[in-house]
This record gives sequence, structure tokens and C-alpha cells, in this order.
Amino acid sequence: MKSQYAIIGGTGVYESLFTSEKICVETEFGDIELDISDVQGNSIVFIARHGKQHAVPPHRINYRANLKALQKLGVKHIFATAAVGSLNPEYPSGSLVLLTDFLDMTKQRHLTFFDGSADGVKHVNMDDPYCRNLRKLFRMKANKNNVNFKGDAVYVCTDGPRFETEAEIKMMRLLGADVVGMTSVPEVVLAKELGMCYASVGIVVNMATGMESGPIQLEEIDEMLSQKKETINRMFLEIFSQKPDQRKCFCADSIVSL
Ligand code: HPA
Repeated sequence: MKSQYAIIGGTGVYESLFTSEKICVETEFGDIELDISDVQGNSIVFIARHGKQHAVPPHRINYRANLKALQKLGVKHIFATAAVGSLNPEYPSGSLVLLTDFLDMTKQRHLTFFDGSADGVKHVNMDDPYCRNLRKLFRMKANKNNVNFKGDAVYVCTDGPRFETEAEIKMMRLLGADVVGMTSVPEVVLAKELGMCYASVGIVVNMATGMESGPIQLEEIDEMLSQKKETINRMFLEIFSQKPDQRKCFCADSIVSL
């Protein structure tokens, strides 16, 4: 079974919405379970980043297996969601933001498919880490829908699973971060290494540590996500039904071999 389009559902957003066929894809990094649905003649792959039971914490996600499995199915376009904490007072809880760039503060993740040997030394261009065409299509769709879309955001990725300290959040603000999460790196990088278009929508579920008085409330996070998930997935599906291709971006041509 082949499919050009995929949705990577982050925390609380995994749901295939339609009748789907479950499949298991074997990769050299591990086996991945996915769902494929036929949505009005368009085949869409759904993958739960943290596993369907939400049992895999951010630092243990097998990012390379997830992305390889999508590549094996023929996926060229991915929309992802990411629950994020906000460092930007203009992006309160409940906002949707479009990730445009990232700061990588992870320390112990497998960040690449380009591990040398027979493949030689390869690099990947990061001019547009998140696909400019998918971002444009999402922005247009969000502005037409009443979805509390606030704008572009720089994402800082931490290993987690702990939240950040107040001092760390102060430092991240100074460095230019708008939102913080634990999963977009290396996912966005691996997609680009495979020549895929990848865009991600951040769902602000809390203000980051120290941005508001009082501790982060986990029940509020759950509530926020269940309110947003269906709308966001429907927007992704509507965009995929327009059959975006790779002619309006450079994602398929980002590898630099030396
Ligand atoms: N920090 C890191 N990751 C997160 C947060 C946060 O405050 N909220 C949701 N994911």
C-alpha cells in the first residue's frame, strides 16, 4: 500500500478519524505500527508519535524508525502536531502556532540517518527546516477557520521528560524561542534528510515554567488537546485533498554531499 501524505499525531492528537487499515512496517531501526485511511480517494497515513497507548516518552521515541516507515510507504508530505509550552505572552494557552525554526537543546538523541561509511559524508540544508509550502497552505487554511491561530514560532526542543527550570526558560527566551517542546527535533531533521516536506503545528497547552504564577496543570493540558485535535486533523486533511506537490519548496533537494 502506498501513500504520499501522513499525519504524525503528537500528545493527545492521535486519531485516524476514519476507518483505517492497520499495518506494520519493518525498518532497519525497528517495526512501526501505522494506520492508513482512504479519505475521499486520498490515501493518508496516521502515526502516533508516542505509540497508540501514549506509552513512549519523548526521549525514547524511535524517530528514525517512524520516518523510515513513512518513507517506505512513499510518504512525501507530513503534517505533525506538537503540544508546547509558551515563552511568548502573545501566545497564551489554547493558541495554535506554526513552527518556523528551531533551537536544538537535546543532548542524547540519534539526530541523523547520515552516519557515514558507504553513504559518505552528507549534510542537510536548514534554510527552511519546516516546509515553506505546507506552512503557507496551513496559514491560509487557519486564517479562514476560526481556530485561534496566532502566528509563527521558534521552537526550542529539550530532551525532557522533565519540564524546564525557570532559569532555563529565561535563557531560552533570550535566545529567541517562542515555544518549548520535547519532540520536534530530530523529527523535522530526519524528514528533511529523506527529502520530505514536513510542517508542524504547535498547540500551546501551558505557559512555560515561571511565565505564570503557579505550577503547570496537567488536567488543563488534556482538556486543551481534546478540544483542538479534530479541528487540526481536519485542516490537515483538507490541505492534503488539494494534493500539494514538491515544486513550490526545496525540501526534495536539501542534501549537500561533500
Ligand atoms: N515544556 C516542554 N515541553 C512541553 C511543555 C513545556 O512546558 N508543554 C508541553 N510540552
